[in-house]
Amino acid sequence: MTTTAKPHTVKPVDGKLGILLVGQGAISTTFIAGLDAIKKGRTKAIGSLTQMGTIRLGKRTDNRHPLVKDFLPLASINDIEIGAWDIFEDNGYVAAKKAGVLSDTDLEAARPVLEKMTPMRGVFDQHWVKRLNGTYVKSAKTKREYAEQLMDDIKRFQKERGVTRTVMVWCASTETFTEMSDVHRSLKAFEKGLEANDPNIAPSTIYAYAALKLGIPFANGAPGLTVDTPALIELANETRTPICGKDFKTGQTLMKTILAPGFRARLLGLSGWFSTNILGNRDGEVLDDPGSFKSKEESKLSVLDTILQPELNPDLYGNICHKVRINYYPPRGDSKEGWDNIDIFGWMGYPMQIKVDFLCRDSILAAPLVLDLALFMDLAKRSDMRGIQEWLSFYFKSPQTAEGLYPEHNLFIQEMKLKNTLRYIMGEDQITHLGNEYYGI
Ligand SMILES: NC(=O)c1ccc[n+]([C@@H]2O[C@H](COP(=O)([O-])OP(=O)(O)OC[C@H]3O[C@@H](n4cnc5c(N)ncnc54)[C@H](O)[C@@H]3O)[C@@H](O)[C@H]2O)c1
Repeated sequence: MTTTAKPHTVKPVDGKLGILLVGQGAISTTFIAGLDAIKKGRTKAIGSLTQMGTIRLGKRTDNRHPLVKDFLPLASINDIEIGAWDIFEDNGYVAAKKAGVLSDTDLEAARPVLEKMTPMRGVFDQHWVKRLNGTYVKSAKTKREYAEQLMDDIKRFQKERGVTRTVMVWCASTETFTEMSDVHRSLKAFEKGLEANDPNIAPSTIYAYAALKLGIPFANGAPGLTVDTPALIELANETRTPICGKDFKTGQTLMKTILAPGFRARLLGLSGWFSTNILGNRDGEVLDDPGSFKSKEESKLSVLDTILQPELNPDLYGNICHKVRINYYPPRGDSKEGWDNIDIFGWMGYPMQIKVDFLCRDSILAAPLVLDLALFMDLAKRSDMRGIQEWLSFYFKSPQTAEGLYPEHNLFIQEMKLKNTLRYIMGEDQITHLGNEYYGI
């Protein structure tokens, strides 16, 4: 077929890809064990768009639907090396056992790989995660020194594992809520702040700074500010490095961004959405602290407004009561239960209710996102796509966007945007779904 689009120049995949995970807890160990099982043919990469997704190219009559991984020059899952930091010394096997996500059979099958995962010492400050008391942490006089130590870790990892490219994904605990302050407004102010130990610089931002300084893409799986500040965006642009975040979209918020676009499309009104859930993993324990919960709450609450756009449709969405609760309930471990009570109304204002009871597994939903983000961020870096990668909003509860631009939360628009970006990178035509050509118009 002929195409009017111009292909992007993508540097070829050359050598191994290093994935550096900050935090070796439930998500990270589930990701590592799953990747091992996929490589050994014990399971398929379920939930991963890069591995199992297909992409339509050209007209519907062209019948071109390659797998995403065959269409794009992505790193192969056989050429990945993984490293991690944590603030506890447990190796991956011990950490996975404590996380309690995997069955004994899956845990034992992944044991050789997980046992080799000795974490690097983390950068930690309890002010930011009240419920944890890290014992395996770096020490330094200034935040700049911490950043330098992290850069040394990265270089050592790259050398020892022989990787040619590296990406970093934040899979560590949610830090306490923080607003942007002066130190975040420019790279110059931020670098001064590192030297002066500015209290507004969180550990996550020090990891992100270290990554970006070395031109390593950074994806933020938690809701903290981290790379979403002018200072770090400036650094990302300067070192031509992709960034994205925030907060993996799994569980209840995933359901919300699947259901709400449907109500909006069919012009069904919404008067209330009450979401509550119970979970008992370490993430739940951390979120039991009001500061960490506030970060999460902000991220979870924002989605409905931009999907429903009450300002455009006040009769349907102008008066919504939206509440989100997270309850730490240890007996459930990683197997979360999320309840949603949704009050909608239809023709002549008649009320209706929808109840969702999602018995989900947080880390099972999040692990494939880590894989996709790592592979897509590596692709973006090789395509010289620097700064905020809004096309990866698909993976996040609180997508990072340019200043002044509202984020797109609708999962289906996000999917279209992601796939159109992949077509754009490879010089394929965008798909508009207009379809006139099939009717001779
Ligand atoms: N599982 C999901 O569905 C989901 C969805 C969205 C966001 N998240 C976020 O992803 C993150 C990871 O989730 P999880 O379930 O794996 O949590 P977890 O508590 O099992 O693991 C987090 C790990 O990070 C470590 N850690 C904390 N601070 C650190 C630091 N400064 N440096 C290095 N390591 C540090 C902890 O010791 C722990 O081992 C959390 O912030 C969570 O809120 C999870």
